[in-house]
Amino acid sequence: MNTTISTSERVRLTGIRKRYSTGDTAVDALRGVSLNVAAGELVALTGPSGSGKSTLLNICGLIDHQDEGERFLAGIAINGMAEKQLTDLRREKVGFVFQNFNLVPVMNVHDNVEYPLLLLGVSAAERRERVQQALMRVGIEPYASRLPDALSGGQRQRVAIARALIKVPHLVIADEPTANLDSVTAAQIVDLLRQLASEQGSAVVVATHDHRMADHCDRVVQLVDGEMQ
Ligand SMILES: Nc1ncnc2c1ncn2[C@@H]1O[C@H](COP(=O)(O)OP(=O)(O)OP(=O)(O)O)[C@@H](O)[C@H]1O
Ligand SMILES: [Mg+2]
Repeated sequence: MNTTISTSERVRLTGIRKRYSTGDTAVDALRGVSLNVAAGELVALTGPSGSGKSTLLNICGLIDHQDEGERFLAGIAINGMAEKQLTDLRREKVGFVFQNFNLVPVMNVHDNVEYPLLLLGVSAAERRERVQQALMRVGIEPYASRLPDALSGGQRQRVAIARALIKVPHLVIADEPTANLDSVTAAQIVDLLRQLASEQGSAVVVATHDHRMADHCDRVVQLVDGEMQ
């Protein structure tokens, strides 16, 4: 096996298998999937419902474990890592964007975006600076003191993207980020993810049913029934 990992390689998944067992039924959600993603690359993960996209994203983003196969994040071998170390790595290196935005409803926009930096123990002065930059970057700074409820879907997704990019993550995982948005807003969100990938050098992996979105990605990977086509 080649154990040399180039510095620009952010994600390496090899032979990933995942089986969900509930009662006496089992589903093979992933059946030997391999994927490499470089820094600055935006990869779309497409495929029918139930084909394993979210399962792969969750394994890629260190939310879930595979049953078989190997994974590396930013050149670090994940297999065999203790749970605490895994959590620290996820906090530090992975940003998440979800279909339903997953903002904290009782926190205003500023506080939602700041939150990952609080978890990382960043000083108050640096937090102030970085939150302001992130809000400007996604064009949401006029709404800093609003609660998420008082924003449109597109604005909420911008807040979620600001929250994901604020830690300058090695990897951003986005699960159907445009599913609840109209087509114009969806296109703006894709542009933003595109910028995030190329300017910050984050690897971005996006699960999507949206073909317009896939057209704007560097690479499209299709899953069918847990296998890569
Ligand atoms: N927690 C779970 N327990 C049992 N089965 C699961 C679980 N999560 C996913 N599955 C099954 O694994 C398979 C892959 O699911 P997954 O959510 O990864 O698909 P998907 O491609 O993201 O689908 P969608 O496009 O609908 O979001 C499906 O058959 C699903 O029913
Ligand atoms: Mg899914």
